[in-house]
Amino acid sequence: MLIDIIAGARPNFMKIAPIIHEIERENKEAGLDISDKNYLQYRLIHTGQHYDRNMSGAFFEQLGIPEPDLNLESGSGSQSEQTGRIMTRYEKVLIDRKSDLCIVVGDVTSTMACSITAKKMGVKIAHVEGGIRSRDWTMPEEINRIATDSITDFFFTTSEVANKNLASEGVKKERIFFVGNTMIDTLLSNLDKLKKPGVFDEKSLKKGDFFVMTLHRPANVDEEKKLKSLIDNIAKGVEGKKIIFPVHPRTKKILDDLGISHENLIYTEPLGYLEFIWLIKHSKAVITDSGGITEETTVLEIPCLTLRDNTERPETVTQGTNELIGTAPEAIVPALKKLMSGNWKSGTVPEKWDGKASKRIVQSIYELLKDGQFKFYEPYVDHILMFKAEN
Ligand code: UD1
Repeated sequence: MLIDIIAGARPNFMKIAPIIHEIERENKEAGLDISDKNYLQYRLIHTGQHYDRNMSGAFFEQLGIPEPDLNLESGSGSQSEQTGRIMTRYEKVLIDRKSDLCIVVGDVTSTMACSITAKKMGVKIAHVEGGIRSRDWTMPEEINRIATDSITDFFFTTSEVANKNLASEGVKKERIFFVGNTMIDTLLSNLDKLKKPGVFDEKSLKKGDFFVMTLHRPANVDEEKKLKSLIDNIAKGVEGKKIIFPVHPRTKKILDDLGISHENLIYTEPLGYLEFIWLIKHSKAVITDSGGITEETTVLEIPCLTLRDNTERPETVTQGTNELIGTAPEAIVPALKKLMSGNWKSGTVPEKWDGKASKRIVQSIYELLKDGQFKFYEPYVDHILMFKAEN
């Protein structure tokens, strides 16, 4: 059985790392070798969507991910250009040797592009983190999620909300595997390896007394005036505390022209995983427009202010330490006041965010592919049945 594992952009790498480690462990434990039909052989395919060392290579090293078997080198460009390059190049890979299952993770361009190609080539799809929805069609990630999930065969979900979303879209429960969160597997397994980044001592930071900020969503960074006003309000609202701001390449292009400077605002290059989590863990709070970071702050019990109007990860708000502040620059001021006055909520950790998601995923795949055959049904029978029932 040949399994393709797709990774393309920074937030994918921490999601695939524990799955790969678990596949290797499972094969070893079962004493299987490549000649055995139950051996889980995988091909790691990097689409090249993120290619800078600090957005990609450093994560492979720190997380012990093996060198990709193939790199599609899709590089920069518009999302359609990236999609086109990834699809045509992955198609060639599948023509050369077809796999039995394609595992995609998350919601980035690479996730959607490889799913469509795999499906058209008759390869089954497993979507790790399937079923989450922001209901915000202005986000490319939401389009990627819906497109991917509409052709996914097996869903590995992170939450009950995701399970419900899929059920309401007509997906039969046999195709939904509530496994937990692979990003949290990576977080928990690296807690004893975290590294203090140089900026902490260089800037004389004190534990629990500084902020970490990340911004990269088009809604926040693409409009210069708004971005400036957002950053100005944040820098003033934290009452003199220092803010570490590792700048995403997309944001850097815009910031370079704006030249915003505040005494307490410290810009850095994108950080490595171990350094970034170290900073979050020792921060007073995080200000972000990322989705994944809200999951990490929830588990680390660090207050998180999300500069978005919606989230596909509602459990980080209903159970975790996250609050949606919105994207209006003036909305950040009262939220920071609340935080600075010590009135931030505490949270709990969502079900199955326990470090064992990858184990559950690999067990399920093993069962599904046992003896070289997929266990069940044609996909979409459930969708078709629903359609008939309604009409
Ligand atoms: C992508 C994902 C987003 C994810 C984010 C994390 C999509 C639609 N979006 O957004 O969900 O949260 O990654 O980082 O897939 N660039 C570099 N070096 C790199 C990578 C990118 O300079 O290594 C530049 C590109 O040239 C481009 C910009 O950064 O101009 C944005 O990169 P891109 O991959 O298109 O999307 P992100 O905004 O990073």
